[in-house]
Amino acid sequence: MKQKKLIVGNWKMNPQTGAVAGKIFDGIKKGIVTFKNTDVAMCPPVIFIPELSKKLSAATILGVQNVSASKEGAFTGEISIGMLAQFKVKYVILGHSERREMGETDFMISKKVESALNAKLSVILCVGEKERDEECTYLEMLRLQIENSLLNIPKGLLSKLVIAYEPVWAIGEKATGRIDPAGLLEIVIFIRKVLSGIYDQETAHSLKILYGGSVDEKNSEGFMKEGGVAGLLVGRASLNPKKFIEIVKIAENL
Ligand code: PGA
Repeated sequence: MKQKKLIVGNWKMNPQTGAVAGKIFDGIKKGIVTFKNTDVAMCPPVIFIPELSKKLSAATILGVQNVSASKEGAFTGEISIGMLAQFKVKYVILGHSERREMGETDFMISKKVESALNAKLSVILCVGEKERDEECTYLEMLRLQIENSLLNIPKGLLSKLVIAYEPVWAIGEKATGRIDPAGLLEIVIFIRKVLSGIYDQETAHSLKILYGGSVDEKNSEGFMKEGGVAGLLVGRASLNPKKFIEIVKIAENL
C-alpha cells in the first residue's frame, strides 16, 4: 500500500521575529494547495504559533519542536500539550538530536511520546546515530535508541507515530557527510526490523518513516523514490519558501 507522503519543516530557532515568521509561512502557504498524496506540516518556534495558527489553510498543518510530558503545574519554562491544542497544533517533533544533545534521554523522550500520543497529537520521533564506525556498532545504538524511546508505548497508540531517521553527521551546517538513497534504504529496512521486534511485522510496515539531514530540492526525489521513506524532515530548506514548496511538489508528484 502506498503511504501518503509527509513533508515537515523544522524551523529550529529561526527566524528571529514574528514578522519574518509570518512572511515565511505566507510564502509557503501560497504554494501549497490541498495535495492528494502529501501532508505538509510546519514546525516554527512555539512563540510564533498563536499568530501563525490564524493563518492556517486547509492544506497547512502546524507542529512544534518539543512539548512537556506533564499536563500542568510546577514545570518552569515548559509548554503543555493542552496549551498547544487551542492553537490547532497537530504535530510534535520529539527526540531531535539537538535536544538529545541538551540532555534529553531516551527515557524522557518516551514519556513525551506517550503523553503526546495519548492526547492524540501526532509524533515525529527522531532517531539517528552520531557517527558511523566500520564495525557497525552504530546499528546497535540505533536499535537501543528506538526501543528505549518507545518504551511502554502500546501498539494501540501507534497510528499517530512517525519515525524520522536523522543521522546526526548529515544534519545542518556542521554535517560531515551525506547519505545516499541506497544507504538510506538499508537503514529503513533495519528500522522496520527493529520495530517488528518490538511490535510485529504488520505494525512495522504500517509506520511511516521519514528522512532528515541536509534535505533540499535537489536530493529529495532520490530519498523518497529509492530510499524507501514516505517523506522528509527538512531543516534549513524549510525556511526558504521556494525550496520548501519545490520539495513538497516533488513528493506529491512521485
Ligand atoms: P537540515 O536539518 O535539513 O538543516 O540538515 C534537519 C534537521 O535537523 O531536522
